[in-house]
Amino acid sequence: MEKPSFKVETPPLENELKRALSATNLTMLGIGAVIGTGIFVLTGTAAANFAGPALVISFIISGIGCAFAGLCYAEFASMIPTAGSAYAYAYETMGRFIAWIIGWDLILEYLFGASTVAVGWSGYAVSLLRDMGINIPAQLTAAPGTLVTVPGNPEQITALFNLPAFLIILAVTTLLVVGISESARFNNVIVFVKVGVVLAFIAFGAAYVNVDNWEPFIPQNTGTFGEYGWSGIMRASGVIFFAYIGFDAVSTVAQEAKNPQRDMPIGILASLFVCTVLYILVTLVLTGIVPYKDLNVAEPIALGVDRAGSGLLWLRPLIKIGAIAGLSSVMLVMLMGQPRIFYAMAKDNLLPAGFAKVHPRFQTPYVTTILTGVISATVAGFVPINILGELVSIGTLLAFVIVCVGIIILRRKRPDLPRPFRTPLVPLVPILGALICFAQMASLPGDTWLRLIIWMAIGLVIYFTYGRYRTRGKDREAFG
Ligand code: ALA
Repeated sequence: MEKPSFKVETPPLENELKRALSATNLTMLGIGAVIGTGIFVLTGTAAANFAGPALVISFIISGIGCAFAGLCYAEFASMIPTAGSAYAYAYETMGRFIAWIIGWDLILEYLFGASTVAVGWSGYAVSLLRDMGINIPAQLTAAPGTLVTVPGNPEQITALFNLPAFLIILAVTTLLVVGISESARFNNVIVFVKVGVVLAFIAFGAAYVNVDNWEPFIPQNTGTFGEYGWSGIMRASGVIFFAYIGFDAVSTVAQEAKNPQRDMPIGILASLFVCTVLYILVTLVLTGIVPYKDLNVAEPIALGVDRAGSGLLWLRPLIKIGAIAGLSSVMLVMLMGQPRIFYAMAKDNLLPAGFAKVHPRFQTPYVTTILTGVISATVAGFVPINILGELVSIGTLLAFVIVCVGIIILRRKRPDLPRPFRTPLVPLVPILGALICFAQMASLPGDTWLRLIIWMAIGLVIYFTYGRYRTRGKDREAFG
């Protein structure tokens, strides 16, 4: 195990990233990454199939787990303000092998996460275009083999490719190559739009809540694990965990923050707090307007507006536009995070040196941005949302568990290191964080576990045939 020294890294000038992001930018980036497919798409199915109105409890459980993990992230992010998120923290605290494991695992969160959100985006975009009289051929709106129902057509159509999902990833990738300041400005505008839409749904929808729909608040378990009752609440918390993914993306851009020691913890915790409150309120209003059994639809929030009656019809197109904009900013942050993790891994020689190239004019890691975009777009075109979503959740939960454990290890091994932000009540908070995240992993189905195991096995093969035999780059030696 390498002994961390935490000197400030001084990369060669031509490979330096621009320090352009303030605390507000970072909080906006976090909210931009978090509010997305989880609340706009998955809330409905999770309430209908697993938890009923008690989905509120699932959100609270998941939010508490994220808050504990977030406090651990914040300590690391303030100590190790370098690109690469949990990957970099693992490298400094647990050595090269664990770092590779977590870096490989984070590809599930960011690259596959962007693909998942693109598929959700595609659903809303196709629906909005249809409202406007523009019909995209159903064969080109979902993953191969998916049966698509088109309004007005009794027959289901077998899809071949999800073209809108593919194209939106390529569009966001282009924006990211052009530069991080421009991307952050674009992100700020979008975050206002989507938070505005969510607030409007809460504020105007509240008047239409029928408290009878909250009875029974915890529907009785059917006898099968995960179908209502407390096991359903846990299964739902594993599924809607997806809704919280992204606040840690703030830490991936630490190297581009103006004042990382102060601003990273603010960015992570503030964005997480805002999102948790919004999710709880949206779920209460939604399950109060629509009986939970009816919520198994692709656009549950739009359904909520419909069911409220003619008084809220004006909100319907705005919800769709807000969702489309909101999902775009989630993709933006995920596609921004992944290349920076690759960048950090390449600087450590765990990936080829070309991955660390920074564009001479735009100062962005363009090689990895383009690579990430092309792979993510292809995955979005070919893989269905349910498989992607659960894989992303389980992979991210694993990363959170490792980060929580990492805090305990580092406090024991290097109590002397300066910690601009300290996780409170160590080891209680990290232990609870790891336990809650693991409980959510355990509540996900067996085939999702199998996919995680296969993915990690591929990563191990690559490590033992490539990464293990290379040493850390010269410019990183001061750091580790
Ligand atoms: N939290 C993000 C979403 O819900 C990933 O789309």
